[in-house]
Amino acid sequence: MPERFFCTAGRGMECFVTEEVTQKLSATEVETVSGKVLFTAEPDLCRLRFIKSGERLFLLLKKGSPLSLPKNKGKACSALREYVIGEPHMWLHCLSVWQNLQGQLQQHQHICGKVGIASKRKSGSVSEFHISKYRKQDSTVGDKVCTFQDPTHKNMSQAEDQNLMDIEELNATEQQLLPKPHMNTHPITFRVSCRCSGATAKVFTPQEVGAVIGGSIIKQFGWKPDLRMPSLEVFVHLNDLYSVVGFPISRQPLAKRDYIRNTGLRSTTAWAMGTLAELHVGALVLDPMCGVGTILLEAAKEWPFGHFLGVDNNDLQLKSAVSNVKGAGLDGAIELLKGSVLDLPFVSESMDAVICDIPFGRKFTSSKNMKDLLPDIIREMQRVVRVGGAIVLLLSQCLHHHLKVNFHFGATDNKNITHSGNNSVSEENGDKEANKGDILSRTHWFDSLIALESHSVSLGVTEAVIFKCKKAPPSLSL
Ligand SMILES: C[S@@+](CC[C@H](N)C(=O)[O-])C[C@H]1O[C@@H](n2cnc3c(N)ncnc32)[C@H](O)[C@@H]1O
Repeated sequence: MPERFFCTAGRGMECFVTEEVTQKLSATEVETVSGKVLFTAEPDLCRLRFIKSGERLFLLLKKGSPLSLPKNKGKACSALREYVIGEPHMWLHCLSVWQNLQGQLQQHQHICGKVGIASKRKSGSVSEFHISKYRKQDSTVGDKVCTFQDPTHKNMSQAEDQNLMDIEELNATEQQLLPKPHMNTHPITFRVSCRCSGATAKVFTPQEVGAVIGGSIIKQFGWKPDLRMPSLEVFVHLNDLYSVVGFPISRQPLAKRDYIRNTGLRSTTAWAMGTLAELHVGALVLDPMCGVGTILLEAAKEWPFGHFLGVDNNDLQLKSAVSNVKGAGLDGAIELLKGSVLDLPFVSESMDAVICDIPFGRKFTSSKNMKDLLPDIIREMQRVVRVGGAIVLLLSQCLHHHLKVNFHFGATDNKNITHSGNNSVSEENGDKEANKGDILSRTHWFDSLIALESHSVSLGVTEAVIFKCKKAPPSLSL
């Protein structure tokens, strides 16, 4: 039976989570609030664990309007208790669904432990692809640092592939050999995690809310508190817009990828950039400043029928990228080269998509300012991408502002332009709304690129913008 869930999301990522749960889980009753997406879906871990744009996944126990608490603290405690624990049957139902999901999780972990983190990609799927086809004849740069044709690796991933099976692929006898979830026979241990803001925070600290709710749970259900290693976490979020109570499905956040050894860009942001690139079967995708390869790893895992190329000019970054690619079992899918984004070793119009996390200053190994280099970087991306192909960039807010003010992109009928967050793409692109003086004062002209989308996203400490444009056919770019 379908159940209610919610997924926490980084700021600006809610629209990606909404789209993903709708597409992948056929979720219904999808509701977005700041930082969370609530939805109804089947409690099937095999599908739920493939949500890539969310941070953490919870089973929703209750969502309501904001709590209005009496000023008297004693009365406020009673109101809080009544709100959170008032319907014990809902807690018991939620607990049984959660226990079932834990059983599925244990089975999944058992299988992963047995075979390691294996790739679902079949080795044969990339057999006809070879990068030399796309290399510039006169190219002297671009040392290949990861060889996907390496026979030992091919054998290893074939062996892994043979071992790889999902829970649903196990036969009945093997299912019987798996450890059975024993949650039902063990007492529940729990802890309460609270976040309070607005009016509630004026009455209670999060610790006080935790103590009130924790005490009621002990009394009502007889569960045992355990602050260090509880079997169940009770998540309570009270603010001026809504109140939410839920149980996290797993200790490990969805956003923590088992297959990434060396972390770079946030995995959820990298995944979102891949989804904007509209990758099709056989697509050739380039990250020309790939760092440790997060964008490529996320894309290759999600769209296993593409071919992925990473370029970076830094040996240490490439070394970490090679380790990541091997660790993820993706050496059949991702090829890494040493080279510069300013002189890419590929023939013109050879890439179906270019996805790139433009460094925010410090990481660019050049004495030149990034604002000065951006036009040359985009020009080189424009050269290598084919007509109709997407360029998806992650830019600092400052660099994005610079792009909006100083770059002119080709005109479009504006029909397909979308934006989220505070950015209006029509300002970057449209030019129907901008006055002529504004347009003429722009210093960098990219008539063959059409700006399509921009999304403000949070990277934790900083804010950034994902910007997407497409290469137009010649008739449109005139
Ligand atoms: C923001 S980091 C990319 C991070 C990457 N998305 C990840 O997850 O690791 C930018 C990368 O650009 C590389 N870089 C700097 N200048 C470059 C150039 N001229 N050509 C190619 N790569 C360059 C840096 O070595 C760095 O790895």
